[in-house]
Amino acid sequence: MRRPFIAGNWKMHGSRAQNAELIEGLLLGLPGQVPVDIAVCPPNVYLWEVGRLLKDSIVKLGAQSVCAESIGAFTGEASAAMLKDVGCTYVIVGHSERRTIYREDDALVARKFLAAQAQGLIPILCVGETLEEREKGQTTQVVSRQLKAVLDVAAPGALQQAVLAYEPVWAIGTGKNATPEQAQDVHAHIRAEVAARDANIAARLRVLYGGSVKAGNAKEIFAMPDVDGGLIGGASLKADEFLKICAAGQ
Ligand code: G3P
Repeated sequence: MRRPFIAGNWKMHGSRAQNAELIEGLLLGLPGQVPVDIAVCPPNVYLWEVGRLLKDSIVKLGAQSVCAESIGAFTGEASAAMLKDVGCTYVIVGHSERRTIYREDDALVARKFLAAQAQGLIPILCVGETLEEREKGQTTQVVSRQLKAVLDVAAPGALQQAVLAYEPVWAIGTGKNATPEQAQDVHAHIRAEVAARDANIAARLRVLYGGSVKAGNAKEIFAMPDVDGGLIGGASLKADEFLKICAAGQ
């Protein structure tokens, strides 16, 4: 019912030469059509060129964040209109690195979500708990709070044009992924929270897992009933490994 989706979050990695090599490897390794949606999210400075390298391939372009404002004196920022202008389909909002390092709170993440949708971008809304919060048994409470902040300000049907990503902070970049069962538990909770507002949207909503997904663990994680793909960091920087993860999503 839900088409799997694999997105690569390149974070602050790459160069023009590395990007060209990575995209070439991806496009060479992908058959014409695959039964999964695929996107790559480069740093903003490379969006235009990577978008051109992708041409009209099946791989779509995404950004890693977006300004909540639409235009004006916001030095260093990029608006949703600008991201759309350079060819983005998706934009990640609320990544834990934005929430912790750049102190983006729930309200700002919600505003970024709305700004993205206002320009026709599909937000990939990230939620997830820290290790401390998990160890205190607060996982579902944290994820519910982060989700509610968006649902309370978004239009009732907003999640029809959005993707969710559960990224336990303790699994990001650590090599210690959530077990398939841990992921399934939280994904099911997220879907239940959405279903409480609209069961039809919940049934169609894609919820990705992110946090140390590798070629070796992707299949078992993606096999869980409420996991609809992955948001991939480090492993998305290597064409062969990202291709294996995309294959695992099929
Ligand atoms: O957004 C995806 C990212 O946070 C996961 O990173 O390196 O653990 O796959 P990584």
